Amino acid sequence: MSEIRIRRAGPLLGEITPPPDKSISHRAIILSSLAEGRSIIRNFLYAEDPLSTIGAFRQMGVEIEIKGIGARGKGQDAEIIIEGKGLYGLQEPKEAIDCGNSGTTMRLLCGVLAGQPFSATLKGDASLSRRPMKRIIEPLSLMGAAFKSENGYPPLTVTGGELNAIEYKSPVASAQVKSSILLAGLYCSGVTTVTEPEKSRDHTERMLRAAGVDINIDGLTVSLKGRAEPDPFDLTVPADFSSAAFFITAGIIVPGSEIFIRNVGINPTRTGLMEILQAMGADIRLENKREVSGEPVADILARHSPLSGTDISGDMVPRTIDEFPVLCVAAAAARGITRITGAKELRVKESDRIAGMTAELRKTGVNIEELEDGLIIEGREKLDSAVIQSYGDHRIAMSMAIAGLIADGETTITETDCINTSFPGFMGMLERLQKK
Ligand code: S3P
Repeated sequence: MSEIRIRRAGPLLGEITPPPDKSISHRAIILSSLAEGRSIIRNFLYAEDPLSTIGAFRQMGVEIEIKGIGARGKGQDAEIIIEGKGLYGLQEPKEAIDCGNSGTTMRLLCGVLAGQPFSATLKGDASLSRRPMKRIIEPLSLMGAAFKSENGYPPLTVTGGELNAIEYKSPVASAQVKSSILLAGLYCSGVTTVTEPEKSRDHTERMLRAAGVDINIDGLTVSLKGRAEPDPFDLTVPADFSSAAFFITAGIIVPGSEIFIRNVGINPTRTGLMEILQAMGADIRLENKREVSGEPVADILARHSPLSGTDISGDMVPRTIDEFPVLCVAAAAARGITRITGAKELRVKESDRIAGMTAELRKTGVNIEELEDGLIIEGREKLDSAVIQSYGDHRIAMSMAIAGLIADGETTITETDCINTSFPGFMGMLERLQKK
């Protein structure tokens, strides 16, 4: 199992293009598989999680060709050509589908499987096997699918069939739950409606609409008219804001830094971190705003700036959901206190990110109070170096690598293979900025 070592860094200077968006890459495979005919996905994230989604649809008979791996020379992006089978063209998989570490693969796939005339079993790695699935089992069962699970946890066996449209009030703001129900809704006659307590990322809605599906969005409620097959498409994936987030934060907290981050998706359901950092005093500018394949995109300039603590809660939480580990690092480098509340979901991510970030940042000398639904972090001028555990969680590993840039001495992060689930070239990109 690999580890990485980080030393206090001088200014980070230069330009980068982070890897393609993970959420959009998953959804592009799913929707193009359900369309009939050839789709092309450009700048697809060639990393373990989206490859699990490709593996799943290949097992169900969809022809998926992966071309041009690492066209940027970094082994992170690829062009994908898919011969979609239409809503009713999937085949029963012969073996259990392995979703690896990917919650998005498992939960979205359940929505598709709910509408199939066969059964399929989905399994995952140790982390995914600890993640709650009742949140999708419940609505999809109401629609008519049948599930076997380990008391609400994977492995799951889904038996699909005729589905009824439902009006569902989701207890959690979760794009995976919303998307799973909407995908099942494609198979229903009638209108499927999902209402969330706060708005989660809307990539599924945007992509469905672009593929010709009749979808209506009214505040926190999304409705989809069923028996609708998506049209095939040619789509270009922007760089992942969640991967850019590590470099935005590094640019802000490492003295003297100025990083220009190209081609980043700035969908407002994803950019909470940027707004929070700006409110804390960060100099972050958006340039060259444009739209690519129905998603807003921009280049981002992040410059070193002094930060002050802030309070984060409410609808900012889902808009920042994957960025809390690196936001905790920014809070550790800020003057004063940062309070994060209403973020209980962090306990059921790839790891318990509240417990993990509390334990690991404490090792660097930071004062932290762990709350049931968040953290209170007191910023510190300098961090101490330490041996850091990642808990097999890619975002904790990368966030603590960013913390290592402002720590005295050498920081070691153990169990870093998990970085390959979303950002295989992470260390190389960081090293290139240090050499400039
Ligand atoms: C994702 C949704 C979020 C996010 C995850 C990816 C998606 O999860 O944390 O990394 O692609 O839909 P939840 O839906 O559980 O909030």
